[in-house]
Amino acid sequence: MNIIVTTGQKTTTNFIVKAKSIARQLNATFVPRNNESIDALRGSGKQDIILVVNKQGLVAHTPNGELFFHLNMAQLRIKNLLAGKLDNMVQAMGLQAGMSVLDCTLGLATDAIIESYIVGDEGKVVGLEVSPVTAFIVREGLVQYKTEDPSIQRALERIEVINADYNEYLLQLPDHSFDVVYIDPMFRRPIKESINLQPMRYVADHRAVELSVLHEAKRVAKKCVVMKETNCSSEFKRLQIETVVGGKYSSVNYGVINANK
Ligand SMILES: C[S@@+](CC[C@H](N)C(=O)[O-])C[C@H]1O[C@@H](n2cnc3c(N)ncnc32)[C@H](O)[C@@H]1O
Repeated sequence: MNIIVTTGQKTTTNFIVKAKSIARQLNATFVPRNNESIDALRGSGKQDIILVVNKQGLVAHTPNGELFFHLNMAQLRIKNLLAGKLDNMVQAMGLQAGMSVLDCTLGLATDAIIESYIVGDEGKVVGLEVSPVTAFIVREGLVQYKTEDPSIQRALERIEVINADYNEYLLQLPDHSFDVVYIDPMFRRPIKESINLQPMRYVADHRAVELSVLHEAKRVAKKCVVMKETNCSSEFKRLQIETVVGGKYSSVNYGVINANK
């Protein structure tokens, strides 16, 4: 995947310096914008990702659309939690204030924001993301995004983003390092209506979860390992996950492995 880093059309020296630095870190090419359109910058490299650094943050122009950080469903889920409604992910994790979560598949951090909101200032959320572009966009977005709700703002700021592959990262962690280890892989069969996830799909890692990874995750977890999949998926069976929770009308379920059994 070829990555080109540039700035917005109206830019400043600071953004040019920042874009060059990001290009170096991503092992990508910096191209001065020179008032060019994204299509013109793309030229014949139709599969390329053009990462634009501007005042609004980072935007990756992929052939599937624009990828940028946004709260997605996190705000609505927090509103529902405050209204006393149950969140299936929170229930599956048994999440409470003060707990620590290793979110192995950070993506756009929607789930991680909920985790961080619940665990609060005394807790900890570390998010792993193997796609360097997604990790960059989300790390920057979590710091730059401004909400009017200070508790959501703190939830964003608390999340630690690490650009890493969970297959390797889990191996380095000591036993019982986190209360909960969470894995939300790209679904084997994507849910059709999640059209706004198309740009993320382009940069995401689509590999299936290995059974050996769940064993590592169980070793690392103090309380449980939770994995998300669609409700009709055979993944829970393949991965020998017996406890599956989820709402009757929800399109996704959560497989739960008790770390102490
Ligand atoms: C379905 S998305 C996760 C969505 C996320 N839970 C959210 O709420 O936004 C899966 C993400 O995990 C990442 N991923 C897949 N395999 C990975 C791996 N081995 N290590 C780290 N990240 C991985 C993908 O690149 C993708 O961004």
